[in-house]
Amino acid sequence: MDLFSEELKDYLASHCDAENDLLKAIDRETHLKVPMPRMLSGHYQGRVLSMLSKMINPKTILEIGTYTGYATLCLAEGLTDNGIIHTIDINAELEDMVRNNFRKSPFNDKIIYHLGDASKIIPELNEVFDLVFIDADKKNNGTYYQLLMDKVKPGGILIIDNVLWSGKVLEEKFDQNTTIISKFNLMVSKDARVERLILPIRDGLFVIRKK
Ligand SMILES: C[S@@+](CC[C@H](N)C(=O)[O-])C[C@H]1O[C@@H](n2cnc3c(N)ncnc32)[C@H](O)[C@@H]1O
Repeated sequence: MDLFSEELKDYLASHCDAENDLLKAIDRETHLKVPMPRMLSGHYQGRVLSMLSKMINPKTILEIGTYTGYATLCLAEGLTDNGIIHTIDINAELEDMVRNNFRKSPFNDKIIYHLGDASKIIPELNEVFDLVFIDADKKNNGTYYQLLMDKVKPGGILIIDNVLWSGKVLEEKFDQNTTIISKFNLMVSKDARVERLILPIRDGLFVIRKK
């Protein structure tokens, strides 16, 4: 199920800020050279992440799932002057491209890029985060969420991508991935430590505020 018609997507994209040249180039290069380019957040969701980050004005951000660095740069737009964004990805094959993209941005000095399995790297991070974006292997969303709860400041925000899973969470019979996502959504909806809502943006963004 596509949550939005192509017409509505065009309307939304044409009524928000344009991507800068670097983000446009990353999108294009990703589509030309990297498998599964639809994983990239893209123009509209990128502007949503940028806007949320600017509203929060975080000092510390963590992104799980760097991919080609598109969302990292969108989130970095909201950082405080002395702010830092950590971003983690397991795919070392993208390292050169990602580092190159970061170097071309004004945020290079604010980005700490970790290569490896997020579930091993998160416990080693000696930071407390204002904003977290979880957008990696969906089967580990629950693991990342639990590992991170003590590393998010009270009032801090977690954003989880793809929680509507193309609308499959509404189906009567779930495949394996939908079961995982649906269980995660149910767990969050009952977690007394947080306030939450799902924004029906692209594939669904769970926005979660730690009390
Ligand atoms: C959906 S893409 C991220 C897209 C990116 N956040 C964006 O919006 O442009 C998911 C990424 O998660 C990474 N990933 C998958 N499993 C991981 C793991 N266990 N630890 C860290 N990264 C992982 C993949 O290599 C992939 O690059």
